[in-house]
Amino acid sequence: MTEGRLWGSRFSHEPDRAAWRLGRSVDVDVRLWPDDLAGSHAHAAELERLGVLSGAERLAITQALQTIAEELAGGAFVFADGDEDLHGAVERRLVELCGDTGGKLRAGRSRNDQIAGDLRRYLVRVTDRRLLPLLAEVRRALADKAEEVLDWLAPGYTHLQRAQPVVLGHHLLAHAWALDRDAGRLADARARMDVSTLGSGALAGTTLALDPDRYARSLGFARAAENSMDAVADRDFAAEFLAACALLGVHLSRLGEDVVLWASAEFGWVRVGDAFSTGSSIMPQKRNPDVAELVRGKSGRLVGDLVALLVTLKGLPLTYDRDLQEDKEPVFDAVDTLELALPAVTGMVGSLRFDRERVAAAAGGFALATDLAEALVARGVAFRAAHDRVGALVGDCERRGVDLTDLAPDELAASLPELAPAELGSLLDPAAAVARRAGPSGPAPAHVRAQLAALRARIPQLPQGIIG
Ligand code: ARG
Repeated sequence: MTEGRLWGSRFSHEPDRAAWRLGRSVDVDVRLWPDDLAGSHAHAAELERLGVLSGAERLAITQALQTIAEELAGGAFVFADGDEDLHGAVERRLVELCGDTGGKLRAGRSRNDQIAGDLRRYLVRVTDRRLLPLLAEVRRALADKAEEVLDWLAPGYTHLQRAQPVVLGHHLLAHAWALDRDAGRLADARARMDVSTLGSGALAGTTLALDPDRYARSLGFARAAENSMDAVADRDFAAEFLAACALLGVHLSRLGEDVVLWASAEFGWVRVGDAFSTGSSIMPQKRNPDVAELVRGKSGRLVGDLVALLVTLKGLPLTYDRDLQEDKEPVFDAVDTLELALPAVTGMVGSLRFDRERVAAAAGGFALATDLAEALVARGVAFRAAHDRVGALVGDCERRGVDLTDLAPDELAASLPELAPAELGSLLDPAAAVARRAGPSGPAPAHVRAQLAALRARIPQLPQGIIG
């Protein structure tokens, strides 16, 4: 008999040490204790309703569960070597506290429906209380920074080559919209994880008349699972959550990469605040954008967490398989990674100080070539021909080592006779070029202001103190 374990009686030998250590998950799953104990309270109520527990027994169990919660919250709970997982540890302590009555709580419930429900409830909590608020803070920081530099001229890039003029507000808001979609994806995943699994038992429900809807109501879930086999086998909710986290990580990484580039001496666009930069132990002059780099690096973990879970799930026969125990580490790692990264990104974005002149200086010149070609189109020239002619002019400038703006007015007028000399000044002015891009998704400052308001309206106002 394996004393203290949940399943020892049919075995005649103690588990092998290595096998036991391989299977013991309590160090990882302990963080689910608030959810596990909530499930136990709901289950005790169901068992009392069915007459499996007397009122006095249910009270004894409820009080013992409260003691256990205090012990776990205060770090006073002592785990035994025989505690295979959190469920086993709680039952062992329950029996210590209220004797044989504690052994009654297992009726009609399996660790399979318990763990699936615990993880769902944990993720709903963490998504609502931590990740969505932290992500809202990042979007707010980007919106605030975009407002600060809203109409500052900058070149937009494709292929990391200067392409067309934009304003910095437009560029920063582009990152914010990606994060806005991430918030939407997390919210979508959250809606699908909001399902109670209790009542599903090991896989086939139970012969006790437990009521899944009551569990759902008392645990705050939106609904109960429709299929007991799916309830214990499904980890889609965790995979969807991790997919949303991985994509969020990729977006943070792309933002980080922009900051790393902009902070380089070669760009010289931005200074990351001291509090979000680090120095070098050997090179006294260094000022490294480590936060941006670390966030870029952390995205690798987030992608890895998703892949780890998908590979674990692939090929598993229905229903519960012990492989599923491997679901928690990637999920917790993603939560921890984002809880670290999101506030750091918020702070880093807030600390950015752009060099207005330097950024604007990169926005003119060849970045205005498309405007010249489009002006020819307005005079009836086919775009293909206009592109050729402006391209030839740019090539000529490059050979002479000058910019479009360095050309004398009569030289420009000679190459582009369709355009009035007065018009050429405005065509080669980046501020005018940006203002001309007044389409609904364009960088004209008036539109960027409207865009900023639209984005801000989507950022939830958080109750005070939710991020602590
Ligand atoms: N520790 C397990 C897990 O995380 C709980 C379920 C164990 N079920 C079982 N039949 N061994 O998945």
